[in-house]
Amino acid sequence: MYRPTWAEIDLDALVSNLRYAEQSVHPKKIIPVIKADAYGHGAIEVMKHLEKKGINLFAVSLLEEALALREVSDTSDILMMGPLLSDQFEICQKHRIQFTVYDETIAKEVLTYPKPLAFHLKVDTGMHRYGLEDEDMIISWMKDIHQSPHDLVGIYTHFATANSQDQLFHEQVSKMEALIKKLPYLPRVVHVSNSSASLRYESHITYTTHTRLGISLYGLSLDQDQLGLTPVMKLKSKVVEIKRLKAGETVGYGGSYRAYEDEEWIAILPIGYADGWIRRNKTGKVEINGELYPMVGIICMDACFVRVDQSVRVGDTVTLFGGKISLDDVAKRLSTISYEVVCGMSKRIPRIYQREE
Ligand SMILES: Cc1ncc(COP(=O)(O)O)c(C=O)c1O
Repeated sequence: MYRPTWAEIDLDALVSNLRYAEQSVHPKKIIPVIKADAYGHGAIEVMKHLEKKGINLFAVSLLEEALALREVSDTSDILMMGPLLSDQFEICQKHRIQFTVYDETIAKEVLTYPKPLAFHLKVDTGMHRYGLEDEDMIISWMKDIHQSPHDLVGIYTHFATANSQDQLFHEQVSKMEALIKKLPYLPRVVHVSNSSASLRYESHITYTTHTRLGISLYGLSLDQDQLGLTPVMKLKSKVVEIKRLKAGETVGYGGSYRAYEDEEWIAILPIGYADGWIRRNKTGKVEINGELYPMVGIICMDACFVRVDQSVRVGDTVTLFGGKISLDDVAKRLSTISYEVVCGMSKRIPRIYQREE
């Protein structure tokens, strides 16, 4: 690491969030959702650490993501939740990737595939993204699968409104329950809840064995009341240059910030929009030596500017989020959700893993 800009990933916080969620879902088990490089936290490190803590089933979205995990783990089960094509059955079979049967075409195609495959069936109970809807079709397909060499490991659905738990959420819970009662047999893994539903509702659901935990594993939540979670990622940089401006002088592209007094001090940080520190962050503040200072000017590809005072020195550490400014503050500033902020931290930012246990 040459450039002093990095993301700290606190693996102890990750485990503490896992344990916190486990209390809510007990005795059911958690499937960590580590797609999108574990929401920007680093899927391989997250997986390896959680394997040591007893987890052996992980969920991702893409086949590429699943194969990258398989390269580092021989033993864990890997569920791929995104879509696939039938010409990818072979690679799933070879690398023991449990894929998702999410529509009627794939459901029919697995039946004609000669070698044994392992998969989960996804049911669409109201999200209307991926999943089979027709109950009669599901039941007769499951009977056919039972006679085939294949292994229907799991069945699942996904909630559209888990964090508001409105009418649609309750309809989805009931629809899945009604279907489960009609199935000719139960696969060994049944999972419906994401983070919000795991933490707030799973204890009311009787028919599941697992839950899928994504955002809350990383210490984040759309719910205001999840105070037991600890954010896992902190974004840090260092002041690499300080400019002294006179009144009227401007900073950066477009000269959009103009000093309004003599002796203004502008700190330069080596982080910009190519790192995921997008231009709309320009209205925010950052933390240096426990104080908050405003960003000024336009954020460049590799750098940004902060108006500081004379106490700030080259080499001082800057916390962009994960200290006095939370990741949720950044998400709010950008009119988005924490998911998008963490996933948007680019590969240029090295992840530094911290653990005591
Ligand atoms: C199918 C599925 N399950 C689980 C999750 C995890 O959701 P969350 O991060 O809200 O826990 C996602 C995330 O988008 C998903 O697409």
